[in-house]
Amino acid sequence: MDLRIFSDPTEVTRAAADEFTRIAVEAVAQTSLFTVALSGGSTPRALYSLLAEDPQYRDRLPCNQMYLFWGDERAVPPDHPDSNYRMTKDAMLSKLPVPEGNIHRIHAEAIDAKKAAEDYENELKQFFRLASGELPRLDLVLLGMGPDGHTASIFPYTSAVQERERLVADVYVEKLKTHRVTLTVPVLNHAIHVLFLACGAEKADTLKAVLQGERSPNQYPSQLIQPTYGKLTWMVDRAAASKL
Ligand code: 6PG
Repeated sequence: MDLRIFSDPTEVTRAAADEFTRIAVEAVAQTSLFTVALSGGSTPRALYSLLAEDPQYRDRLPCNQMYLFWGDERAVPPDHPDSNYRMTKDAMLSKLPVPEGNIHRIHAEAIDAKKAAEDYENELKQFFRLASGELPRLDLVLLGMGPDGHTASIFPYTSAVQERERLVADVYVEKLKTHRVTLTVPVLNHAIHVLFLACGAEKADTLKAVLQGERSPNQYPSQLIQPTYGKLTWMVDRAAASKL
């Protein structure tokens, strides 16, 4: 695991944009495509804006060969302010020429969250041409961590923490009184690169518990993220790292 500590969120965002672009260019050189699972959250939002607005990233991104997936989605329509898809669209997709057909959002607005999860699982199986039991190998999984230790929509003490069979799970988050749809631990851990972003003093205790505390994944689902053979990088700011 590679832990990189930066002075502030702006520096984290810039380093993440460098890494995102580097991985995208490298993946396209090797396989002609770049597959990424995007995350919701405030730190990723700043990253998406930077990628789309700063020519040093925008001009290098292989937009035609970029295939976008999501790590998780909230149970709202795609134009809702809480939608992770909408956030990405506003911050990045509306400004970058990524072909519509390359964008694979989670249709979590469906009344039946279980069905939405199944549909997304089928979409992944089809795109990655998976045989039964195989996992997709995303070039990059981008993750944020909530102050409670959740990542993607794998919240503490929910069914998603235990899920090891499905590629995509629906999960009811009691404290938010809502459903979410999330990629599962086996999928997240099968990626070639996992990039975790965490900023802010309100995450300091949790970051310490996740990285240096006893293993307690039910309480801190972010502990479950340990790529099987890929590379895990944490990019955090000094405030989040203050208890390490
Ligand atoms: C979501 C996210 C979630 C997020 C963390 C961190 O849909 O809520 O995918 O996992 O990344 O909650 O969010 P912040 O960067 O806003 O703290």
